[in-house]
Amino acid sequence: MNFTVIAIIAGLGGLLFGYDTGVISGALLFIRHVFHLGPAMQGVVVAIALGAAAVGAAFAGTLSDKFGRRPVLLVTAAVFVLGALLSAAAWSVAILLAGRVLVGGAIGVASMLTPLYLSEMSPRDKRGAVVTINQAYITIGIVVSYGVGYLFSHGGDGWRWMLALGALPGVILFAGMLVLPESPRWLAGKGHREAARKSLAFLRGGRDVEAELRDLRQDLAREGRATAPWSVLLEPRARMPLIVGIGLAVFQQITGINTVIYFAPTIFQKAGLSSASVSILATAGVGLVNVVMTFVAMRLLDSAGRRRLLLVGLSGMLVTLLAVAGGFMAGMQGGLAWVTVISVAAYVAFFAIGLGPVFWLLIAEIFPLAVRGRGMSLATIANWAFNMLVSITFLDLVHGLGRGPTFLIYAAMTLITLVFTWFLVPETKGRSLEQIEAALEGEGRLA
Ligand code: BGC
Repeated sequence: MNFTVIAIIAGLGGLLFGYDTGVISGALLFIRHVFHLGPAMQGVVVAIALGAAAVGAAFAGTLSDKFGRRPVLLVTAAVFVLGALLSAAAWSVAILLAGRVLVGGAIGVASMLTPLYLSEMSPRDKRGAVVTINQAYITIGIVVSYGVGYLFSHGGDGWRWMLALGALPGVILFAGMLVLPESPRWLAGKGHREAARKSLAFLRGGRDVEAELRDLRQDLAREGRATAPWSVLLEPRARMPLIVGIGLAVFQQITGINTVIYFAPTIFQKAGLSSASVSILATAGVGLVNVVMTFVAMRLLDSAGRRRLLLVGLSGMLVTLLAVAGGFMAGMQGGLAWVTVISVAAYVAFFAIGLGPVFWLLIAEIFPLAVRGRGMSLATIANWAFNMLVSITFLDLVHGLGRGPTFLIYAAMTLITLVFTWFLVPETKGRSLEQIEAALEGEGRLA
């Protein structure tokens, strides 16, 4: 099988993540009437999935280090389908919430396992692009969900279709994972040498895999064990990965991306766009910008490098957030409202070439193999926890401080992220996962 096709199947987990991220706000417009939900309960319907995602991510690392990446992804796909169908069929709030917990938990697992699996199957010179397939799917999922939300926004039971359609990518992921092999790196780590060779040969389309296998074995010989205790994460060689992984996880959220992804139509209406439908159209445009710029990032990550894209992306986010904040403070209306819309779109574009893909890529690269799953778990838990925190505080912040100051806070966070990145985030472009690990072991950092 051609490697591109393999990577396209292996990345499907990102689609579950993106679709659910985008679909719930549209569905909620109807659900709140059907089940008579007040604002607090609506918040719970959204946030419960984010919380469950953090819990799912907590288990994903240990489970996938122990049982392998593939079986855990298979079970995850099945749980996701179940959750999507249950929430679509919900006849009470309790059932709806149960469905949301299953969906959220599955997304939490998939959000870390998809980049992990992609990174472990990639050749080193393409790893940036291959792992970013996950982020591309997330952005595509978001746009598709906006479209589905629009299509089904007319009938009373349309929300059930919105949620049920989420099962589809789950089914495709399940079928796809039946065809794909276990991660060669995980297999080698467990001592299954022949299986690792077969998996790698399958992934490389029958090309010579000896050199790559040798790298892998050397790494394992140094480590001496495939699954080390959690305490390895406290050793000096894991210090930089932990700080960078968890740091970027938190920064990816507190710089405000999901206020736009979840609340864009509201933001645009407040900025002065005349009607709801124009706001929805502008939101779709922003979603498309997100997709297109993620593809641009895919092209650049392995040549320009992760660090450079992150620094450029963050600088752009800073400037555009200041513009959004300034726009709100100056009370732009009418034609000038479009300045805010364009600033928001540019902000998303800069996120999409930097912090969006680079966070998920780096956490799949920098942890030592023996604790890679668990290290990624910690970073992913932090990401979902802060996603939830930002989502539930956004409207209160806007209420209490005003829109301009709220976006100024995200700008300040972006400035801190820029400094953090400048001093602490390493370049991993062009190195094998084993070389990255060896460098960290030797010097505790990547020169
Ligand atoms: C983030 C999500 C966000 C998405 C937007 C991802 O990298 O983790 O929280 O919704 O990008 O494209």
